[in-house]
Amino acid sequence: MPSSFLSLGSINADFQFEVSADLSEGGTLPAKTFLQRAGGKGANRALFAQKLGIGATLIGRVGDDHFAGQALQPLRQTGLDLSGVSVTAESPTAIAMIAVPENGDKTILLASNANRDWDDSSLDLVRQAIKQAEAGAVLTIDFEISPEAVEIALQAATQRQMRIIADGSFGKDVKPEHLRRLHAIAPNVQEAGAIAGIEISSDTDSERVARMLAESGVEIVCVKLSDGGCLLATAGAVERINSPPVEVVDKTGAGDAFTAAVAIALLEGHSPRDAAIYGVAASTLAVSGKGSQEAYPNRSELDQMARRVADGVPAR
Ligand code: RIB
Repeated sequence: MPSSFLSLGSINADFQFEVSADLSEGGTLPAKTFLQRAGGKGANRALFAQKLGIGATLIGRVGDDHFAGQALQPLRQTGLDLSGVSVTAESPTAIAMIAVPENGDKTILLASNANRDWDDSSLDLVRQAIKQAEAGAVLTIDFEISPEAVEIALQAATQRQMRIIADGSFGKDVKPEHLRRLHAIAPNVQEAGAIAGIEISSDTDSERVARMLAESGVEIVCVKLSDGGCLLATAGAVERINSPPVEVVDKTGAGDAFTAAVAIALLEGHSPRDAAIYGVAASTLAVSGKGSQEAYPNRSELDQMARRVADGVPAR
């Protein structure tokens, strides 16, 4: 069946450690717990949509190894369409080593491996998946994969007049020609600075960059703030949307939940402002639980949190 939500991006085997030690000390440091999980930005967004009952298709690349099983098996169990995922014998599946300290602010060491190793037939799968998508579908992308795959997807989706919603990672790989083809982008503050080529050291800088990105051709810019809120910039206006206070357990995958929720809200006909409210609601829920995919909400949890976020946003 054709999908209305496509996710092109990284597919990773996540190895997650809870730590209380200071990583900057170096040497051998103790971990409190260890978890093996499915992850990757493309996979996380697709899973988020699937959990909300949206038919989602994942497009990505894995190796021919047992790490691919770790990354894909939980997705397969949800009925997610994996027909856009190809396998390479040349590189292992991507691996993310994630250290989560007590404040939840994770550090990720990423070996991109298969995410960056695409051949002609896998690039063809990108074209096919986009061609077969439902009319009015949205395409979500991140830049943690081969730039060629991103370029082909942008071209194919633009031809179909599909709305493209991008995550901001890796910010340095987001070029002005990409921005012109995006409907929405959701970078964090550092990524927004990298995209705009500006070092951000204050709230004023963040606002300036949000405005700059909105002026560069992207209709909806959501700069994700470290406190869980976001700056929404559309033509001419910047608005702050705050996150309700919650206990932050683990920030892993919260940004992917944000991007997916924005894309779903736009797919379902919500305004940019409501889409940003849904983004903040999704990431607020995602940081409240351990891991990424397992912390993602169901529809009623998300709607309830979106009402809380909206209540805190002054009416216009
Ligand atoms: O955004 C979170 C994801 O980033 C993790 O699942 C990990 O795989 C890294 O790519």
